[in-house]
Amino acid sequence: MTLTLWIFLAFEVLGASSEVRQFFLTQASGQDCQTLQLGESWISQSPITCQRECMSRYSENCQSVVYNGQTGNCRPGSIAFGPIEKVTTSIPESGSSDKLYYVRQPIPPCNTSNNFALYDVCGTFACLCLSTSEADNYSHARLICSQMNSRLFVGNTMAKFSMFWYTTKTYMNVNTYIGLQDIDVEGNFVWENGEPLSDEQYQYIWIPGQPSNGAGNQNCAVIQHAMYPGNFGIDDDQCYWKKYYVCERCEQC
Ligand SMILES: *[C@@H]1O[C@H](CO)[C@@H](O)[C@H](O)[C@H]1NC(C)=O
Ligand SMILES: *[C@@H]1O[C@H](CO)[C@@H](O)[C@H](O)[C@H]1NC(C)=O
Repeated sequence: MTLTLWIFLAFEVLGASSEVRQFFLTQASGQDCQTLQLGESWISQSPITCQRECMSRYSENCQSVVYNGQTGNCRPGSIAFGPIEKVTTSIPESGSSDKLYYVRQPIPPCNTSNNFALYDVCGTFACLCLSTSEADNYSHARLICSQMNSRLFVGNTMAKFSMFWYTTKTYMNVNTYIGLQDIDVEGNFVWENGEPLSDEQYQYIWIPGQPSNGAGNQNCAVIQHAMYPGNFGIDDDQCYWKKYYVCERCEQC
């Protein structure tokens, strides 16, 4: 069991865009949130000075800092994400007493009709409807989402993909479609917004041994919380199975 204590630090940082950026201190017995280090570390007096220095050196690329209260070691970081198994270079390292402080990412508009709500993992937000019953197949799930001014979830960044994994694990814990498929061209996985799956994401998004295109017709991506509990990543499966799904609000869909 992980104890997470959220302490709001009431200070404001003026970013390059002059937006007020809010920082949160995550204190956990495990590594609830992690990030990727942007460059060399330095010594700072407090998390606040660590953050200011990070902002002045890295501008908008600084979206988090990892700070050690005993040594004052300050490490600049990118956007925070829920831990991703295959990313072995993330900080803070497991077992370390360093703490992560991160900037909240922009909050998308969220029309809460049809049971949509905002979900947040490590400062990355999405406006989602978590299904409470199964769709008949992938195209049925796609249709249901489109009828609610939304689309199947697009996990096209590291932070969004990890927010999807942890949100579905926490609130659903069942096998669930995600908006990614290679129906048109075998092996060319495409997100529901038309974006191809990047080579970078390909490295960490699949569970071991996947995608396998088993039986030659596995073209739809699913997160198998029930079939492979605790396995971080997705699997390719036939598009004709009944499964749960997650719809994400979008502006033009
Ligand atoms: C929210 O969505 C519902 C259903 O799609 C729609 O009828 C309503 O006008 C929307 N509200 C706003 C403020 O956009
Ligand atoms: C998917 O499910 C819908 C709704 O039940 C059905 O009309 C459609 O034929 C199914 N498509 C496939 C490819 O199985």
